[in-house]
Amino acid sequence: MLDNKYNELVKEIIPKNSKYAIRTYGCQMNEHDSEQVEFFLNNLGMEKVEDYNEANFIIINTCAIRGTAENKALGFLGSLKNLKRQNPNLKIIVSGCLPKVDGTFEDLIKKNRHIDILIGTSNYLSLPELIYRSYYEDKTIVDISDQYDLNSAELNYNRMYKHKSFVNIMYGCNNFCSYCIVPYTRGREYSREITDIVKEIEGLVQDGVKEVTLLGQNVNSYGKSLTNKTDFPSLLKEINKIEGLERIRFMTSHPKDFSDDLIKAYADLDKLSKQLHLPVQSGSNKVLKEMNRKYTREAYLEKINKVKALDMDISLSTDIIVGFPGETEEDFEDTLNLIKAVEYDSIFTFLYSPREGTPAAKREDQVPHEIKMERFNRLMDLTNEIAYKKNLKYKDTVVKVLVDEVSKNNPEYLSGRTDGFKTVNFAGDQDLIGKIVDVKIEKVGTFSLDGKLV
Ligand code: 5AD
Ligand code: SF4
Repeated sequence: MLDNKYNELVKEIIPKNSKYAIRTYGCQMNEHDSEQVEFFLNNLGMEKVEDYNEANFIIINTCAIRGTAENKALGFLGSLKNLKRQNPNLKIIVSGCLPKVDGTFEDLIKKNRHIDILIGTSNYLSLPELIYRSYYEDKTIVDISDQYDLNSAELNYNRMYKHKSFVNIMYGCNNFCSYCIVPYTRGREYSREITDIVKEIEGLVQDGVKEVTLLGQNVNSYGKSLTNKTDFPSLLKEINKIEGLERIRFMTSHPKDFSDDLIKAYADLDKLSKQLHLPVQSGSNKVLKEMNRKYTREAYLEKINKVKALDMDISLSTDIIVGFPGETEEDFEDTLNLIKAVEYDSIFTFLYSPREGTPAAKREDQVPHEIKMERFNRLMDLTNEIAYKKNLKYKDTVVKVLVDEVSKNNPEYLSGRTDGFKTVNFAGDQDLIGKIVDVKIEKVGTFSLDGKLV
């Protein structure tokens, strides 16, 4: 990859001291893809800047999961028309999920003639070639093929943090939940080899990484697409052996594939963080069926109860969609009751957003916006009440915190995460960033804990 022949060619044609700015919308996968794009651009001798007015290259890494995410990216793209008019040498690159939505890319180009390059989610390795072509071809350069050459053991990226990193273990999704655009934008499920993943993490650890977050749309079905079939717990077991690595997180899990073996892994593997994000989406069996989720609320609760039975203080979080087509007040109350039964530490709640091309978007029984909002607010109140109650148990206890950064709210404070993913703020010196320290919790909030170094 590093000897990509286009690298040298591009370096010769781009302006000297070229700068790029990158804006990322959406999930951790997108964030991690952007880290990869940054690596490629740095490798071309470009410098990253925060202010896009200073940049020769602007990359918009887009998300299509909900209308709001799509509109934000499109709004930003639209606002760049003027800049491009003033500076025709500016290169605008649109990447990620939006170009991959079926039938969208022609429309996207027609409405946004100022796009130079349109690149899909699995085509980042071709970026140098596309940049090169954009200097010679008088049209938008498009590469949105499903090329899947991302399995390379030598994936390179610029990490946001020195001490922690995302690691892709698989791409795509085969589940086709009836509301979701992801299987269309990220293609079919495809796992990387265990040996490649382990090699990548060993390299990261040598470079100072203490915590990895393994990424996949459905990590529980890891390994199914490999010739030598394996599974997610087996991968975790191998990663757990890596010396110097301290914490392993993963996301996202699908409840239907969440296995007893994985529950056992929490007990067996010392580096596996005590945190589980298990998106339930709804507590109503009728809605779950129409969402094509392939589990019932009873089956979900049974799995959660097995996790609780480990008695290991594992933090629980979930995703909920409110206002799925046909969702009645009774269905919504089933969701509230499920939340009460599980007592999540945190919940990501989304208003259902119809995505063209998905089965649920075609339904006529769409829930009115006001009802969605009313349910959203009730759900948030319940979530916050439970989160606060759950945090109370940490008062006056000592927790281990991997220090991430200077707190965004108070420059005299540092901020980090416990093994269970709780945010902790405390006063301390910046040289603690990247270290694991003991903090005594003095004050408890809904979203974070405050404490003192001990
Ligand atoms: N509308 C609202 N939320 C959605 N999600 C996925 N598709 C949609 C949609 N069309 C949510 C799901 C998923 C999370 C990443 O985004 O809850 O788990
Ligand atoms: Fe979308 Fe369902 Fe796949 Fe998750 S499992 S990415 S919600 S289709």
